Amino acid sequence: MLYAIETSGITKHFNEITAVNNISISVKPGELFGLLGPNGAGKTTLINMLSTMTEPSGGSAKVWGFDVQRQAGSVRQNIGMVFQGTTLDDRLTGRENLDLHGRLYGLDSKTRKNRINEVLSLVELTDRADAIVKTYSGGMMRRLEIARGLMHHPHVLFLDEPTLGLDPQTRLHIWEYIKTLNKEEGVTIMLTTHYMEEADHLCNRIAIIDHGEIVALDTPEALKNSLGGDVITLGLENPDDITRLCEAYQKNGCANIVSRKMNEVFITVKEGERQIPHVLALASKAGIPIQSVSLRKPTLDDVFIHHTGRAIRDKEVTEVEKVEYKLRSRRK
Ligand SMILES: Nc1ncnc2c1ncn2[C@@H]1O[C@H](COP(=O)(O)OP(=O)(O)OP(=O)(O)O)[C@@H](O)[C@H]1O
Ligand SMILES: [Mg+2]
Repeated sequence: MLYAIETSGITKHFNEITAVNNISISVKPGELFGLLGPNGAGKTTLINMLSTMTEPSGGSAKVWGFDVQRQAGSVRQNIGMVFQGTTLDDRLTGRENLDLHGRLYGLDSKTRKNRINEVLSLVELTDRADAIVKTYSGGMMRRLEIARGLMHHPHVLFLDEPTLGLDPQTRLHIWEYIKTLNKEEGVTIMLTTHYMEEADHLCNRIAIIDHGEIVALDTPEALKNSLGGDVITLGLENPDDITRLCEAYQKNGCANIVSRKMNEVFITVKEGERQIPHVLALASKAGIPIQSVSLRKPTLDDVFIHHTGRAIRDKEVTEVEKVEYKLRSRRK
C-alpha cells in the first residue's frame, strides 16, 4: 500500500449544493495532513466520506487500502474518528466512555483495561478518569475524545476541528498531544481546521479548501514561499483609495502580488526592508495618504487571500464559538 488515504475525483452534492467538488489527494502513511478552509468549505463533508459516515456522490476513495464504499467495514476497523461536535456521554465517567468504545470494537476485557490506561496517560487524564464527564472542561473533553479515537489502535485518525472553541492555551496543549501521537504511535492523521496557525504548526502538508475545491496543496513552508517574498501591509486613511493604490502598484510592477482586505493593502515583495521607501514613494506620487506600514513574513492567511481574494476568518476563538461548543457539549 502506497497511500494511507487516496481520493480520486471525490464529490458530494447535497441537492443543489456541491459541498465537495472533484477532490484528488494522496496522503502517505505517517503524514499529518491538514484540510484548511473557512466555514462551509467542505472539510467535514470530505472527512465524513473518508470515514464512511457519508456516501460520495461521485469519484472514489481508499483509506488504508480499502474502498470507502465497497469495503466500509474494513475502513472502519482501521480508522479513528473525532467529530466536530462532541459525542461523549457526559453522564458516564471518562473511563466508562472509553470502555464502551472498546466494547463496540470487540476488544476483550484485559485488552480494554490496558489500552484505556495507555490512552488516558497519553492525553494526561489518568487523574480524572473516574470523574463524570459533565465535570470536565472543554479541553479535557476534547482530549478524552482523542483518546477514545485511539482505543482500537487505528492506522488513520480523522480529527474534525480538534481545537474548535478552545482557548489558546488549551489549544497549544492539544497540539502537543496530536504531535506526540503522530510521532510515537505512528498514526497517520488527517485534521480539518479553519485556524491557519493550527495547520501551520501541526501539518506536514496542507490542502487549502474553498467552496469544495482544493485551491493550493503543499507543505506550509512551500505555500508561504509561493508568494515570493515578504508582506508589506499598508493601512490607508481612506478605504476608497484602495483600488487606485492596488492599480498603481500593479502598473509599476513593483510587487509580485497585491491583495486587499478592509482598508489594508498587502504587497508581497522580495527584500521587504529595502522596498518600503519605494512603495511609500509610489503611494505619495499617486496622492494617497498612508496611515500605517508594517513588514512581516507571509502567513497561510496571505496564501488564502491570494487564491480566493478573502481572509479565512478571525484568528482568535470568538465568544460565539465558545458558546456554540458549550451548547453542543451539553446537548444529548
Ligand atoms: N447534510 C447536509 N445537507 C445539506 N447540506 C449540507 C449538509 N452537510 C453539509 N452541507 C453543506 O455543504 C457545505 C459544506 O459543509 P461542511 O460542513 O462540509 O463545511 P466545513 O468546511 O466543515 O465547515 P465548518 O468550518 O463550518 O465546519 C455547506 O454549504 C453546508 O451547508
Ligand atoms: Mg466542519
